[in-house]
Amino acid sequence: MDARRIVEKARAEGRKKLLEHEALDVVASFGIPVAPYGFARNEDEAVDIASRIGYPVVLKIVSPDISHKTDVGGVIVNLATDRDVREAYRKIMENVKARAPNARIEGVLVQKMAEPGAIEIIVGATRDAIFGPVIMFGLGGIFVEVLKDVSFRVAPVEPIDAEEMIREIRSFKILEGYRGLPPRDLEAVKDIIVKTSKLMLELEEVQDMDLNPIMLYEKGRGALVVDARIILR
Ligand SMILES: Nc1ncnc2c1ncn2[C@@H]1O[C@H](COP(=O)(O)OP(=O)(O)O)[C@@H](O)[C@H]1O
Ligand SMILES: [Mg+2]
Repeated sequence: MDARRIVEKARAEGRKKLLEHEALDVVASFGIPVAPYGFARNEDEAVDIASRIGYPVVLKIVSPDISHKTDVGGVIVNLATDRDVREAYRKIMENVKARAPNARIEGVLVQKMAEPGAIEIIVGATRDAIFGPVIMFGLGGIFVEVLKDVSFRVAPVEPIDAEEMIREIRSFKILEGYRGLPPRDLEAVKDIIVKTSKLMLELEEVQDMDLNPIMLYEKGRGALVVDARIILR
């Protein structure tokens, strides 16, 4: 479905948070690379989608009331067989019922596991009342959460600005490669930052978005979004 229709549908249903697959559809429609996925309403559909996209896969809870899926036991990675998928489906439903008893459950996202060898990065955006869309970049995990090592630019972010954003974080050396780790695909990061800026300028209904994490591979091997959160105004 096209981005505007997804937003209208969410609005019509009184939802501010896009569902996981809706957010990924919107992101993909702006040309940002996302890991292959499908939305399943039950266990059988989950198995069908898994065999269609190919193992190994990840299962993730889809609920309008849950933003941090891991916190409620709503993400299980590395599933290699139909049987793993069925078990994980039941386990996720059990976890969510125990830890978020009031959450409405739509189903699960079945997503292809990203290849190993990536480091996790984050691109985010928020619509500021004064500055308009502001785009954020940082490395995943403790780099953002503990060290607050991030960079910001007001949209429109052009490729040259994106390049500066990437280079100005304190942990940039990690992206250049060190201690036997390879240099990363910075062109792919620039492209995602620029496209995120375009998305925020064109889709005015979006208040906040987070691509967290984006799997970033070595130079020439690209980057892949595995989680997208989009909140409407
Ligand atoms: N397709 C995937 N391939 C590999 N790892 C994944 C994939 N999807 C999620 N993960 C891992 O699981 C973590 C949690 O999943 P995520 O979708 O970000 O859920 P949430 O942020 O809502 O807890 C990610 O940060 C990442 O480390
Ligand atoms: Mg996430």
